[in-house]
Amino acid sequence: TGPELFAPERVNSRGWDLTHRPTFAELDAARSTFADHRWAAAPQGVDDRPQSELANPADPSDIVGTIAWATPADVQDALGAAKPWDAPVADRAAALNAVADAYEANAPELFAILHREAGKTLPDAIGEVREAVDFLRYYAVHGSDAGGDAGIWTCISPWNFPLAIFTGQIAAALAKGNAVIAKPAEQTPLIAARAVALMHGAGVPASAIQLLPGDGGTGAQLVSSGALAGVAFTGSTEVARKIRASLAKTGRPGTPLVAETGGLNAMIVDSTALPEHAVRDILAASFQSAGQRCSALRCLYVQEDIAPKLITMLKGAMDTLLMGNPWRRETDVGPVIDSDAQSEITTYIEKARAEGRLLHQLDAPSEGTFVPPTLLRVKGISEMEREIFGPVLHVATFKAEETDKVVAAVNATGYGLTFGLHTRIDDRVQEIVDAVAVGNVYVNRNQIGAIVGSQPFGGEGLSGTGPKAGGPNYLPRFRPAPAPLAGV
Ligand code: NAD
Ligand code: ALA
Repeated sequence: TGPELFAPERVNSRGWDLTHRPTFAELDAARSTFADHRWAAAPQGVDDRPQSELANPADPSDIVGTIAWATPADVQDALGAAKPWDAPVADRAAALNAVADAYEANAPELFAILHREAGKTLPDAIGEVREAVDFLRYYAVHGSDAGGDAGIWTCISPWNFPLAIFTGQIAAALAKGNAVIAKPAEQTPLIAARAVALMHGAGVPASAIQLLPGDGGTGAQLVSSGALAGVAFTGSTEVARKIRASLAKTGRPGTPLVAETGGLNAMIVDSTALPEHAVRDILAASFQSAGQRCSALRCLYVQEDIAPKLITMLKGAMDTLLMGNPWRRETDVGPVIDSDAQSEITTYIEKARAEGRLLHQLDAPSEGTFVPPTLLRVKGISEMEREIFGPVLHVATFKAEETDKVVAAVNATGYGLTFGLHTRIDDRVQEIVDAVAVGNVYVNRNQIGAIVGSQPFGGEGLSGTGPKAGGPNYLPRFRPAPAPLAGV
């Protein structure tokens, strides 16, 4: 039997009630200390190298910090210095819990970095720190000794959850006694550096967790080193494929790869749904985090009978969204991560506009890498070739008798991450849940923001290898690779 899903000794992290004025005032005062602060990221032990500056995506004049990028020699040094963490499991669990406490104690600073480096709004930043804390405490409970043959894992993470996913991967590998070399996304090395400093401060040895700020080349060098016991990767499906191919060439083709990748996520709203409720959830699932969640809703299917009313309501609800600098408490939608993302998404929208498929769009601030929340018309999900990682929602209509066809089209994309369903017909819920091939199905709620320990999160097909993060099957995968076969 596996570990208990609901471990009695663990509770999820606390939140901040922003509607309670004294709570917000206290939090605001604490985070204001970091409004002009500059952070730094560098490979461990490197302090004499030219550094590049990183600017706030919402305000290019705001320099958030400096980075000394890892060189190929730093990668070799890190591999040489990494040592599996052979402390007893109870000591490792205590240290992971101490890291969680340190994250909570330093939350206002972490929020400030998340606003200024990653463009996260305050609710998103709060959710991110809480998820990171939850991962630490959850994996601390489920850790174990790796039987003396733990090894070196590399954890390669994306910019869209630069603290939560970064921390979750590392905590899982450490909970099993491995050493970790963490390669954060090149867009968000500063929050990663601050997190690793807090890990060291809380008692995780420097040989057990090392940071290498670098781009995809640094990740590729680590993966092809032949020195790894495993790879935890979250990011695009395309890069996951490259990593799998690279591992196959190392002579250790059995090296575990835990890959969590992209999605083409849909939601069905049928004519029995409560429109106000559905619109609220569509708005959150599509535009919260500026649509930069792997779980985000990309293609909405509305039953034809209610489509005109629901789409009108949706446009009205979109008009209430406030875009702007994520530091401001009232901001609903911040920038996309950088100018490359902005121009890729904008080009995509402009093509759809030229084809006459633009249904609605907000205005965006002219400074910063903003993309306005946008509604596009499509005939169905099969028209969408790839994941557009931003605030763009595609809308299609369907007839009641076409529900099976819609589910078949969703399955045919090959992705399988999240799916949303708004209905008040109980039998339809079970039918669709049984038919749709995705990792996480959400009924009569939005499809983002899985809670560690309650909603294990992860996809199938092109969306990931499994097992689901924040669930009982995740940690057992963080075991060493089998030795190469003699003579092969
Ligand atoms: P990305 O694939 O471009 O980069 C992810 C990480 O891989 C970065 O650290 C990058 O430097 C590194 N990398 C790039 N090329 C590499 C290579 N050849 N070898 C090794 N490492 C390499 O993804 P991104 O743009 O940072 O993140 C957005 C993507 O992540 C989206 O597709 C999103 O759906 C996905 N995502 C998935 C989940 C999930 O849980 N399924 C969660 C968050 C994000
Ligand atoms: N776990 C994140 C979510 O559910 C990606 O939105």
